[in-house]
Amino acid sequence: MKFFVDTAEIDAIAELNALGMVDGGTTNPSLIMKSGRDIREVTEEICARVDGPVSAETVATDADGMIAEGRELAKIADNIAIKVPLTWAGLQACKVLSGEGRMVNVTLCFSANQALLAAKAGASFISPFIGRLDDINIDGLELIADIRQIYDNYGYETEVLAASIRTVNHMSECAKLGADVATAPPAVIKKMAEHPLTDKGLDAFLADWAKTGQKIL
Ligand code: G3P
Repeated sequence: MKFFVDTAEIDAIAELNALGMVDGGTTNPSLIMKSGRDIREVTEEICARVDGPVSAETVATDADGMIAEGRELAKIADNIAIKVPLTWAGLQACKVLSGEGRMVNVTLCFSANQALLAAKAGASFISPFIGRLDDINIDGLELIADIRQIYDNYGYETEVLAASIRTVNHMSECAKLGADVATAPPAVIKKMAEHPLTDKGLDAFLADWAKTGQKIL
């Protein structure tokens, strides 16, 4: 499973990238707002650091506006994936932009039917939001499983990009379900390394090592 990092914080991206943990990036208007940075500047910096696709989101609500904004955002770097919302206008924009050979990430997906439409409109990525479904007591992971099955049934090449990931459990479950990509906040990716038995075991090893009085260096 590919890891995209869901942030516009450059330092956090750099830290994960140094370990080979970053296969791409995703941003959205809220993350740009949180960064306090200019969308062009920060997106260009992310694109320069990350080898894979970096999603930058349009904010127009009509198809022509999304298409114009998408073309503009695509000028930032070759690895831009244009993010459009899963509305009828977003699907129209997806069809046009993907027809121009551009990567399109269709976001704010909350149903299997929406995902089916995005694939037919030529999306490179579909972004089902797991956490926001969990927030309203609908199992977000079930949506990942449903989309995986539907795409596999018909051989759609649209990649399932699990988004709105909040927990390490979301990460492992997405991997088990066959999501192509998971985009997660840096803190969630770092938390995947943690286990209480690792900490407990290390403490015990270090205590025993101290009793030996030996040194390696
Ligand atoms: O990739 C979409 C993601 O940023 C949304 O996450 O936690 O705001 O639902 P969240």
